[in-house]
Amino acid sequence: MTTFDLSEYLASRRAAIDRALDRYIGAQPGHNHTVWRAMRYGLFPGGKRIRPILTLAASELFGGKQEDLLPFACAIEMIHAYSLIHDDLPALDDDDLRRGAPAAHKVFGEGMALLAGDGLLTEAFCLLSAAEVRKALAPDLLSELIHEIGCAVGVAGLVGGQAADLEAEEREVDLAAVEFVHVRKTGALIHASVRVGARVAGAKGAELRQISRYGEYLGLAFQIADDVMDHQGEELESRAESGRKERRKATYPSIVGVAQAKERLAELLQEAVNQLTCFGSGAEPLRAIATQVVGRALSEELSSKIEEKHP
Ligand code: IPE
Ligand code: IPE
Ligand code: MG
Ligand code: MG
Repeated sequence: MTTFDLSEYLASRRAAIDRALDRYIGAQPGHNHTVWRAMRYGLFPGGKRIRPILTLAASELFGGKQEDLLPFACAIEMIHAYSLIHDDLPALDDDDLRRGAPAAHKVFGEGMALLAGDGLLTEAFCLLSAAEVRKALAPDLLSELIHEIGCAVGVAGLVGGQAADLEAEEREVDLAAVEFVHVRKTGALIHASVRVGARVAGAKGAELRQISRYGEYLGLAFQIADDVMDHQGEELESRAESGRKERRKATYPSIVGVAQAKERLAELLQEAVNQLTCFGSGAEPLRAIATQVVGRALSEELSSKIEEKHP
């Protein structure tokens, strides 16, 4: 496993996810073409596909078969795409650009973007309860997994986190309140992505708890890393170019500064990879994914400390 090639790993998983997404949300004669096009616009070309890749990687650790996992991985990416379309709407973050291209509402209008988000969320649950998935999994496990995904993106998770994020714009918030938002709006779906992959492949008990904690640490770290990168303007050259309006968002770097945010990030990354020690070299993909997605926001000095402890 010392020769593990993360780029090759990510590219091959991404290709499998893209093919499956294209199959699930492909040409559908008879559907309203505009909303369908807006849904596909939110999905393709897409971003890093980190959540569905985590689902596949977590399942591989426990011997899962990719064909059984793809509906779950794709449903999770469809939910993520919906959340971004809605997140960019004027009523929420009011961002004109997403991944360097016009946000869905800029292309299709606000009403259609709203419906495209609704469509992606709903189709995700149609996919999870489709005959092809029902045939592959025990009925109890399947309903538990659907319930788990629903809870992760419901009021206790993503939706509740987005609501708290919106309210936080109106008042002074402390770090505990920021973490509350992060864990829900972003952490919950990442946590579920890992757990669902592991559970479809049969993980239970102590091993499932261990891999769940990896997902929990990574989920919180992911949002802090995103905010650190936004703050540093590494991805976005200026507000005007990013399409972002001036907003009062409370984030880790805005409250404690970039240096302390990075310290916290390094701690969380260390905790995430610590959870994988007991899985040995089979967990190399999960270790490398966490180190890459979080490490992008860290200085080389902080990243290398983590790799030294987990060669
Ligand atoms: C962006 O998520 C929104 C956050 C939760 C920070 P990603 O960074 O995973 O977005 P894409 O899909 O790769 O663009
Ligand atoms: C997005 O968080 C979280 C969800 C869509 C659930 P942000 O608003 O911080 O992410 P970006 O910066 O728009 O990608
Ligand atoms: Mg937001
Ligand atoms: Mg946003």
